[in-house]
Amino acid sequence: TASTVTAVIDLDLIGPTISRHVYGHFAEHLGRCIYGGFWVGEGSATPNEGGIRLDVVEALRRIGIPNLRWPGGCFADDYHWRDGIGPRKLRPRMVNSHWGDVVEDNAFGTHEFMALCELLGADPYISGNVGSGSVREMSEWIEYLTRGDDSPMAALRRENGRDEPWRVPFWGLGNEAWGCGGNLRAEQFASLARQYATYVRDHGDNTVYRIAAGANTDDYHWTETLLRSFDDLAAYGSRAWPFQAVSLHYYTMTRGWSSKGAATGFDEEEWYLALRNATRIEELVSRHEAVMDRWDPQRKVGLVVDEWGTWWDVERGTNPGFLYQQNTLRDALVAAVHFDTFHRHAARVVMANIAQTVNVLQAMILTDPETGALVLTPSYHVFAMNRAHHDAASLAVTFTGEVPMREVAGESLATVSASASTRGDTALVSLSNLDAQRPTAVVLDLRGRRVTGYRATVLTADALDAHNTPSATGVAPREHAGITDHPRGLEVELPAHAYVTVALDLA
Ligand code: AHR
Repeated sequence: TASTVTAVIDLDLIGPTISRHVYGHFAEHLGRCIYGGFWVGEGSATPNEGGIRLDVVEALRRIGIPNLRWPGGCFADDYHWRDGIGPRKLRPRMVNSHWGDVVEDNAFGTHEFMALCELLGADPYISGNVGSGSVREMSEWIEYLTRGDDSPMAALRRENGRDEPWRVPFWGLGNEAWGCGGNLRAEQFASLARQYATYVRDHGDNTVYRIAAGANTDDYHWTETLLRSFDDLAAYGSRAWPFQAVSLHYYTMTRGWSSKGAATGFDEEEWYLALRNATRIEELVSRHEAVMDRWDPQRKVGLVVDEWGTWWDVERGTNPGFLYQQNTLRDALVAAVHFDTFHRHAARVVMANIAQTVNVLQAMILTDPETGALVLTPSYHVFAMNRAHHDAASLAVTFTGEVPMREVAGESLATVSASASTRGDTALVSLSNLDAQRPTAVVLDLRGRRVTGYRATVLTADALDAHNTPSATGVAPREHAGITDHPRGLEVELPAHAYVTVALDLA
């Protein structure tokens, strides 16, 4: 039988705004993310504009993609931007040593990426090379992109066919500097981040938000070291700060790096292990936030979770360096619980980027290498269902009574997760049931404003590993009939292993 839990939501107690940028994306030169994913080249039979796949663009526009991080990942600290400009046939080649050891021909470079962002209507988030680049190289890249006059780099951009400067609001200083980005110590990187950031200049009216490569998972020392590095600058005020945010990377696996687990065909134990690991994002964000609060109590420095998502074993027969994996209902619930955490921590988490948008890790879109057919994954549908959270005011959701719990490998997992937001005369409530077998019911105790209408949507399927393929696209949101009036507000049935959103009209 279904248990019932009550969730109290004060619709008139407005919390911090949930930045649309927590629904951000990440595209690396890795496997078939860029080549075959976003980019097919101008000669392709797949409909494209200047080589960029239009079906991918349209799908991402539908979920309001707010920003796109590029060119890596680990690739970013090997990437030299000047190799990716000018006539394509003259561009130097390089070895993509992190991802499959394949030769990269630099066909997709700065102009192609900026054209992609323009088609998507997304803000570019460029990840600059600290690991093997130079301060000058990074400084010239931002000048090339954003300067309007006849400076040397602006003139070079014009020679390459782009007259107007672009707007580049987000800039990453290195990537995983503790690992593939240079194997640096926190103290070393903190100094380098200050130095590099100084030369990522605001040209004209382009203001850059600089994001220093942050911690891996629970490396609180890394976050603390970056935040401490501001101490002698505090007197100058935040405009003088070299960087405005630090990042955090956290991946969900079944057991860990040595046993990531299969993307499909997993059993119930693996379902729970993975979801328990996904909900760890709450603890990680809270603890990094606590460290940041110590050094920056006014919350001027942002936390950017610029790599998150599932990392399973690659699909059989695919290149192990290409990180291609299927995407199931379990991935959708992993996404849903991450968003609940990002919504709850909206005051500090200013951006997040799922890894990665097309054909790599927890993708929104898979493309068939033979036919080119495009598949929208269950994760994509969570992004679609959550659109109304973009730039909405967060609302606290407080459970009263007993929240259903389950013991997973000696730890407790709350099997119901929720978050909410409001904008004007509407609100959106997100509800996840992580229980593999049992349905549950949630009473929404809605206070502070009158509810004049509601609609519920559900994403679920029979099998825990239900997924979409070019010929079977059944894992998709549907209208949910399991919602009724209740003396306190509304009662919502949550099927087992399901994600439900409730859209409210408010007076
Ligand atoms: O997203 C795949 C890789 O994961 C990225 O290149 C790197 O930053 C992380 O280790």
